[in-house]
Amino acid sequence: MDFVKFGIIGIGNMGTGHTNSISTLANAKLTAVCDINPKAFDRMKPEIRKDVKCFTDAETFFKEADIDAVIIAVPHYSHPDLAIMAMQHGKHLIVEKPIAVHKKEAERMIAEAAKHPELKKSLMFNQRTLPAHKKIKQLIDGGELGKINRINWVITDWFRSQKYYDSGDWRASWRGEGGGVLLNQCPHQLDLWQWFFGLPKTVRGVVKFGKYHDIEVEDEVNVYMEYENGTVGNFIASTGEMPGTNRLEIVAERGKLTFERGELLFIRNEIETSDFIKNTDKTFGISDNWKCEIPFYGDINQHRNVIENVANAILKDTPLIAPMEEGIRGLELGNSMLLAGLKDKVVTLPMDSDEYAAELEKLIATSRYQKKTVATAASAEDMAKSF
Ligand SMILES: NC(=O)c1ccc[n+]([C@@H]2O[C@H](COP(=O)([O-])OP(=O)(O)OC[C@H]3O[C@@H](n4cnc5c(N)ncnc54)[C@H](O)[C@@H]3O)[C@@H](O)[C@H]2O)c1
Repeated sequence: MDFVKFGIIGIGNMGTGHTNSISTLANAKLTAVCDINPKAFDRMKPEIRKDVKCFTDAETFFKEADIDAVIIAVPHYSHPDLAIMAMQHGKHLIVEKPIAVHKKEAERMIAEAAKHPELKKSLMFNQRTLPAHKKIKQLIDGGELGKINRINWVITDWFRSQKYYDSGDWRASWRGEGGGVLLNQCPHQLDLWQWFFGLPKTVRGVVKFGKYHDIEVEDEVNVYMEYENGTVGNFIASTGEMPGTNRLEIVAERGKLTFERGELLFIRNEIETSDFIKNTDKTFGISDNWKCEIPFYGDINQHRNVIENVANAILKDTPLIAPMEEGIRGLELGNSMLLAGLKDKVVTLPMDSDEYAAELEKLIATSRYQKKTVATAASAEDMAKSF
């Protein structure tokens, strides 16, 4: 086999982008697509559409389409059922982020995945492929920073207008989407957080629902986390600030690493912090340090990179960049932030997935939220700016 035959379910904003990505790959070919709305097929470029078979029902798609692998790019609540259906039909898989809306659903997917070791299953964590993120991971795992004492991630440049929230009837309600900025925009940062630092022991914080928008889910999050080893973390996210910030700051024994506006900077201590605290004869002042700008290079075609990686995993057994099973970790982190905010309590990880599922059920059952208008979907160009 020289290339992998891909299908895509959900030809919306993201699915359409994936049709374009696949068309540029040598090891992948798009052969079929599925969407419950046949008008969605018009989103594909004519030169792509002419070679693919279109289906409007997932069951028939899985039975009849000539595909080896499928990308699931539908609203989040449908990820688990469609992913399980794909595995049961023997298809390799890429699931869009988030893996699911809540941890219990992700557990269901992972239980099914365990029955299909022969299949490659990936999450679309495209931001893991960005050169700066790969470099940060390498610096942490390689021990360059030493023990991490504090992490701050301010990620408030996910600004969204009311028009965005009104652009799909599933968006921004408990019933349709199951969450807001933690579930739609931040799964990338939540995954990177756990990829870089692992999961904390406790999570507490303040979460605001519909603070800036006419929505019922969260659009502002201020969270504080603690790790077993004393590391603390602050995670601040919003879709209502303009202009926003995306700044990651990692304060470690051997210095401070920051990533902001495309610049990766390491201010490296000559003497490690705890050593300096104990042994310096100075009353004031800090260790000498060096300012190091860290270069990073590589391909920034994030989604294309993940699809190419999965095709190589199928063809040549290349390791996956983002195994699907790892998706539960960032989801658990996001769910615990929401639970901490909703219940105004300290959540200890591992989080009780039944408690969270029951809480979400309650929110859905008591919701009085009505969507006002459903405008046209966001343009592909708008979406391209939003990854
Ligand atoms: N990785 C990324 O950077 C990224 C970016 C944007 C969106 N996403 C994810 O992609 C998913 C889709 O988001 P979107 O913005 O493309 O949504 P969208 O509303 O633009 O498109 C969803 C499409 O799925 C179709 N659909 C819905 N249910 C279906 C079903 N059961 N079977 C077949 N088709 C169905 C709809 O008709 C629609 O065409 C979400 O989970 C979102 O989080 C990921």
